[in-house]
Amino acid sequence: MEEMGVTVATGNGIAVVGSGYVGTVMAACLADLGHDVVGVEIDQDKLTALNAGVAPFFEVGLEERLKTSIDAGRLFFTDDYDLAMDRTHIVFLCVDTPPGTNGHPDMSSVAAAAQSIGAALRVPHIIVTKSTVPVGSGNWLESTIEAELPEGVDSNVLCVVSNPEFLREGTAVEDFLHPERVVVGGDCPEDVEIVAQVYDRILSQSFEGGDPTQKPALIKTDRATAETIKYAANAFLATKISFINEIANICEWLGADVSEIAYAIGLDSRIGPKFLNAGVGWGGSCFGKDTSALASMAREQGIEPLILDAVRRVNTNQRHIIVRKLQQHLRPLRGRRVALLGLAFKPGTDDTRDAPSITIARSLEEKGVILVGCDPMVDELPRVPNLKIVRDPEEAARGADAVVLLTEWDEFLGLDFERIANCMRGKVIIDGRNALDPEAVMSAGLAYEGIGRFSTRP
Ligand code: UGA
Repeated sequence: MEEMGVTVATGNGIAVVGSGYVGTVMAACLADLGHDVVGVEIDQDKLTALNAGVAPFFEVGLEERLKTSIDAGRLFFTDDYDLAMDRTHIVFLCVDTPPGTNGHPDMSSVAAAAQSIGAALRVPHIIVTKSTVPVGSGNWLESTIEAELPEGVDSNVLCVVSNPEFLREGTAVEDFLHPERVVVGGDCPEDVEIVAQVYDRILSQSFEGGDPTQKPALIKTDRATAETIKYAANAFLATKISFINEIANICEWLGADVSEIAYAIGLDSRIGPKFLNAGVGWGGSCFGKDTSALASMAREQGIEPLILDAVRRVNTNQRHIIVRKLQQHLRPLRGRRVALLGLAFKPGTDDTRDAPSITIARSLEEKGVILVGCDPMVDELPRVPNLKIVRDPEEAARGADAVVLLTEWDEFLGLDFERIANCMRGKVIIDGRNALDPEAVMSAGLAYEGIGRFSTRP
């Protein structure tokens, strides 16, 4: 592959391949900003729903943007790669990369999409990886696409650029429109520039609701650096959380309060206040997968990823701390009733991928605990098929020996603990997110126990 800029194709639109969290948000927001966007989705049910303006998941501000752009003729979804490639000159690859084997992500969806793109390419395209892919995947992707190019089509029609995403579930639209930085990495400056131009209105914040006083930074770099920035960002955030959780565990022995410590150290601008909430640890589809992939990449290069390994170990231990706390209060655990408030990996989503609730529920079930789960959005918990799940926290607390907060949904933070206490058989509240008001819990005659915070008995 020669390192030269690809000329823009006749079709001037943007293709977004894959309609998961990242792809759907990208397609809807880019179209909302005035681009002509073709979403490519092979799942027929999703495709029908998307063309009717229905998002495959809930995300604040997404559906209205989908509907407006579809109605304005700036966005449609198709499973036809030929059509999508004809109409566009840039393809954002947003397919899923779930955890695979040996710490590496499963790249089968990326490979399948790359083959379909290759077979449909006739005119020059820039292929942009949004999916989090191991460093060096850009080279592999180029050869995978090239191998499928129709006869007579020159390999100069394509070039791969990395543009990692930093969207959080629950605030993905907001994060997309108001990012702190946009990272574009490629080996040819012209192609990097073309991709950066897609973000023009975001970079200048010149759209309705944009904030020109908060313009994001644009980082143009090489492809390997861009790919690594994504891993480093997630690894650092996971490290911050594991660090404060370790401090929390030390606090329990020192009689100190980790919440006040986090507040105090966070005032130091070198440290910053965010991602310092101690609790049951991080979950979700990204931190576990990305720290594991980065550690595997390091090992392959003969580097022992000491910090990454420790960050992951601390996080696993953190989930077991809840079980130990319950053991201390309720021993023996067998036959006890425990209510788990919050099953999603964080508030604002029904996503339970790698949620701490799964590990904790399974461990408690093994110890003979009778569990009830409660979550505003989750209806079933993977790998815990028999867990009874209710919507009403008071119903969950009925007859419980202990109530454990695992996800800090707003619905749970303002609970009337007098009423909860009246429903319960026991008196223990474990606050796995340090999010409850200890006074409110204790004045209802209940024992409060946080993580690295004081604990009280009534
Ligand atoms: C994360 C990153 O924050 C995004 O920037 C990134 O784009 C995304 O991964 C990704 O790679 O796609 P997300 O997984 O949606 O986003 O969730 P976060 O809001 O980062 O929360 C992750 C976990 O950390 C949650 O389980 C949350 O409860 C936990 N957490 C967060 C803590 O335990 N303590 C904190 O102080 C903050």
